[in-house]
Amino acid sequence: MVIARIGGRVTRIKPLVAGNWKMNGLGGSLSELAALRDHLAASPVPEADAMMCPPATLLTRAHEVLSGSGILLGAQDCSPHPSGAHTGDISAEMLADAGATAVIVGHSERRHDHGETDAEVHAKALAAYRAGLTAIICIGETEEQYREGHTLDVLRSQLEGSVPEGARAGTTIVAYEPVWAIGTGLTPTPPEVAQVHGLIRTVLGQMLGDSEAGAMRLLYGGSVKPSNAADLLFVPDVNGALVGGASLKAKDFYEIMSVYAGSGI
Ligand code: PGA
Repeated sequence: MVIARIGGRVTRIKPLVAGNWKMNGLGGSLSELAALRDHLAASPVPEADAMMCPPATLLTRAHEVLSGSGILLGAQDCSPHPSGAHTGDISAEMLADAGATAVIVGHSERRHDHGETDAEVHAKALAAYRAGLTAIICIGETEEQYREGHTLDVLRSQLEGSVPEGARAGTTIVAYEPVWAIGTGLTPTPPEVAQVHGLIRTVLGQMLGDSEAGAMRLLYGGSVKPSNAADLLFVPDVNGALVGGASLKAKDFYEIMSVYAGSGI
């Protein structure tokens, strides 16, 4: 468990390592999921939970592969609408029907590629709750905002705009993913991550109250790999990782998870 301190209270939070396959993976990639399942069965990491978010086309088959394994299944985006004339969109209800228990909303690639605003991300998080899914709400500053020292202001505004008032720790996860760190091999320093995650928990406390904020998982994402996981994942107020590229290979993902093995946290 990782200990988060808020308002003088101490909360134990079980870390989560979530993989985001993005627009990668055909049927053959399910062998990586099966390998991860088998590896975790043979050498469990009970200190942390694992989740994989494959593309929507693989959800049903991934659900079969992961059945009974304890590895959670998530999706990468959802429509704010429950159904209707929205060609090509996928509702949170459909994701739940396919076996997902969580959905990523507001990933920076969607904010950038599809112009998603905080208001849309907020609506998608509400759609996730409506369908009984956990919302993994992503926030993060661009390289320019980072260089100009605007990180904390940007994150505060994204949190205020994207996280619904009714967000609860049991059904909401916040992922901090600096845009400039995604897929680049660059990462903030552990003290920078500590400062940002501390701010995120403080802002969530102001928005949702200390007890929800103190129990909420805050993930770090952006170029997490086996070689840097130990440095990034034991930072105060970091309760796991959102992993892109390194989640595509079972071996890399397992190695990231295994930093928690025997850690006694
Ligand atoms: P990365 O992606 O691990 O490949 O940097 C992280 C993410 O975008 O979730």
